Amino acid sequence: MRNKISVIGAGFVGSTTAHWLAAKELGDIVLVDIVEGIPQGKALDLYQSGPIEGFDAKIIGTNDYADTANSDIIVVTSGAPRKPGMSREDLIKVNANITRDCISKSAPLSPNAIIIMVNNPLDAMTYVARQTSGFPKNRVFGQAGVLDSARYRTFIAMEVGVSVEDIQAMLMGGHGDEMVPLPRFSTIAGIPVTEFIPKDRLDAIVDRARKGGGEIVNLLKTGSAYYAPSAATAQMVEAVLRDKKRVIPCAAYLEGEYGLNDMYFGVPVVVGAGGIERIIELPLNDEEKALLQKSADAVRSTIETLKTL
Ligand code: 2OP
Repeated sequence: MRNKISVIGAGFVGSTTAHWLAAKELGDIVLVDIVEGIPQGKALDLYQSGPIEGFDAKIIGTNDYADTANSDIIVVTSGAPRKPGMSREDLIKVNANITRDCISKSAPLSPNAIIIMVNNPLDAMTYVARQTSGFPKNRVFGQAGVLDSARYRTFIAMEVGVSVEDIQAMLMGGHGDEMVPLPRFSTIAGIPVTEFIPKDRLDAIVDRARKGGGEIVNLLKTGSAYYAPSAATAQMVEAVLRDKKRVIPCAAYLEGEYGLNDMYFGVPVVVGAGGIERIIELPLNDEEKALLQKSADAVRSTIETLKTL
């Protein structure tokens, strides 16, 4: 039997996620949105690309959460995107309400599902999703680190002129401008990246990676990135459904790891059939710890804001 994946939100991120999921033949897909016709139209259009691309996936669009029942995975992309000049945190009020609505309608129909959050502010929305669903922490996590580290890897590849496939790079922290790319844990084919890139250039790459989402918002002017965020989400879905035990950074619920408690935060984890199966604690130096603390303070303050809404 095929897996069932529900993607809530049929905007650019949701529909592009459905596209990557179908292309990877990860399962049947239900695309949900409140706007009538949009999920139905996009799903039918995507379904009709199957004979050309050669994938077998049933793809339906709907406005009715009943169609999501018994999903293996629920991906939440619904919410307003940023406009130029906005931070991800500016979206908190509107997106917290949307998240509560989506999760309270979808989670009870799929009590064994794994929830992957994609909307912003990411760490806080993942916190809302866990609170609203009541699911265990291993089954609710957020997509951010895969995207952020992909941006960082792309910039390293552009700088050195080598294949993106040979670049391994770790990045931690909240999905905000305080995120922490970690050059000490980044390599090109196992060779430390510092052997290829001088410090000033590496600092510039780290800075560009941290602001990578804003760079796209400023270019698009009417919304935020969607190809890379969606590809990152599909990679996480694949890690679960194919039980790949991928070691990737995700927004995970922390209970003491890295000295942090009761918050979602980007850390390296092992993702497989059980969702987040393990959190990896890296031996950070004092400088890295200080940067991580700054990012944690920013996420903590956003989560505190939630409580006042
Ligand atoms: C990004 O970084 C939308 O937050 C997302 O592009």
